[in-house]
Amino acid sequence: MNKLLRTPVIAGNWKMNKNCEETKNLIEEITPLVKKANCKIVLCVPYTDLLPALSVAANTNIKIGAQNCHFEDHGAFTGEISAKMLSSMGVEYVVIGHSERRMYFSETDITVNKKIKAAIKEKLNVILCVGESLEQREQNITFEVISTQLKIAFKDIINEDLEKIIVAYEPIWAIGTGKTATSEQAEEVCYFIREIIKQLYDKKGADSMSILYGGSMNAKNAKELLLQNNIDGGLIGGASLKSADFSEIVKEADA
Ligand code: 13P
Repeated sequence: MNKLLRTPVIAGNWKMNKNCEETKNLIEEITPLVKKANCKIVLCVPYTDLLPALSVAANTNIKIGAQNCHFEDHGAFTGEISAKMLSSMGVEYVVIGHSERRMYFSETDITVNKKIKAAIKEKLNVILCVGESLEQREQNITFEVISTQLKIAFKDIINEDLEKIIVAYEPIWAIGTGKTATSEQAEEVCYFIREIIKQLYDKKGADSMSILYGGSMNAKNAKELLLQNNIDGGLIGGASLKSADFSEIVKEADA
């Protein structure tokens, strides 16, 4: 299957930024700038902004996502939000396994796998993040790290559910650092991710999976990254907080 048959996805990860008022304003600014886009557009906002985001984005081509979920449906998990709660609100996407969750909140490949299963049970679309640290890259174990993350994340996920999963390659050393992976580095790992999916499932599953790059992607470097054969879009942090920058990236994905 040709890359052209996969719809590009441009997803913003707002992280812990924007209150309800700011959320409404930013989505209202972004909406007219991207309304003719052919790619899928997703904004992953803080939990507290989900309701206003869903209301402002209703009847637009912008989908709303959360940045995490718990794997249990409900129970004594103070401070947590379940996949079931997200789907009941009308949320359609959820980011799972972001490196900041793995680093600061002790998420493991095993909890990532449980969260993916919970999200799929709720018919949410998953944006699964994988990526190596600088030390791991310098030790030449990038591929081992990514392969382990993927094999555990996809454990017991059946072929029919693959269409609900997007993988985002986010090298940790490129996140928020202004140091983007070169298009060759990003393509090499995204190609490898597709190969692992092919090993775990089949060629069809691998060919139809959207694989995104994330890490200091911006209006200037997006074009070259998005031209790569195995990069089907971006997961954008900082640049997704500015309507002009985000919409420029959307334009590059459509080009
Ligand atoms: P930046 O685009 O700010 O580097 O963040 C990338 C990211 O972590 C998206 O999930």
